[in-house]
Amino acid sequence: MMSEFAADVRRGLSATPKELPPKYFYDGVGSALYEAITYLPEYGLTNADIRLLETHARDVASRMPADFAVAELGSGSGRKTRPILEAARRSGGKVRYFPIDLSASALENCGVTLADVACVEPVLAPFLDGLERVREEHREPLLVLFVGSSIGNFTPGDAREFLTAIRATLNAGDALLLGVDLVKDERLLVEAYDDPAGVTAAFNLNLLARINRELGGNFHLPLFAHEARYGENPPRIEMHLRATRACEVQVEAAGLTCRFEEGETILTEKSHKYTESMLDALVTSAGFSVEACWTDEQWPFAELFLRPA
Ligand code: TRP
Repeated sequence: MMSEFAADVRRGLSATPKELPPKYFYDGVGSALYEAITYLPEYGLTNADIRLLETHARDVASRMPADFAVAELGSGSGRKTRPILEAARRSGGKVRYFPIDLSASALENCGVTLADVACVEPVLAPFLDGLERVREEHREPLLVLFVGSSIGNFTPGDAREFLTAIRATLNAGDALLLGVDLVKDERLLVEAYDDPAGVTAAFNLNLLARINRELGGNFHLPLFAHEARYGENPPRIEMHLRATRACEVQVEAAGLTCRFEEGETILTEKSHKYTESMLDALVTSAGFSVEACWTDEQWPFAELFLRPA
């Protein structure tokens, strides 16, 4: 039986245009490289997100009833989630915090990092399954965090469907805090996804290195170049890996031989950027109402405090 990874690589590299699923970025090396990206000055998203969460954590917490719990889609890094958990501390003790993630190691890290401010109860599950489980098993009002602009990695149609499903799991009195990167100068966006030190390039290329390591691939990495493209309609950055010469690649575990023309690319990730009016339309159509919205001055980014409408 072929592994899911091998089957996905086979499918994606046999398609036209070629494409690979972004979930395979995050092996040990990829996760460390992504963490490094979040420290790059060019990658303004993370810092804007952190500034907003630090500045408005008290306001966020004060909008929730006493003794609420926090669930997060993705296991939050301490840098992002800590201010919210600190502000959420109950009169007597720590807030209950349910990080939901498919990565056991990410959950474990987050448990260690945040244990001093919260009662961490990790949920190893896909986002929606995990959220449903938390909502069924616990009675406290729930503040759900979906920050970091991960929503941008969905197409607008899928984002709407995903938010609608979140909405369906929430009760009146619950809330969703959604972080979203906004449309900004094209040059800034391209630099954020193609930094001069090459960290982002290494992150993107690691996907091919991982295929070589785990699936017996023979991608010759120096022949492939990282590329970040900005496109409108909808506004988004696309990440590609471009073959700088015609070549042929084998991936043993996928039973695959594939040819690249010179200049042909593999699409590896899409990161959609929103205007405030697009965001408004998105969350409204998913059944939420905007109770509060904070934006960053230095790097256009929005934090929305949403209620089930
Ligand atoms: N979710 C991140 C984003 O869209 C992932 C990311 C950052 C990424 N830089 C990248 C994905 C470069 C591929 C290539 O911002």
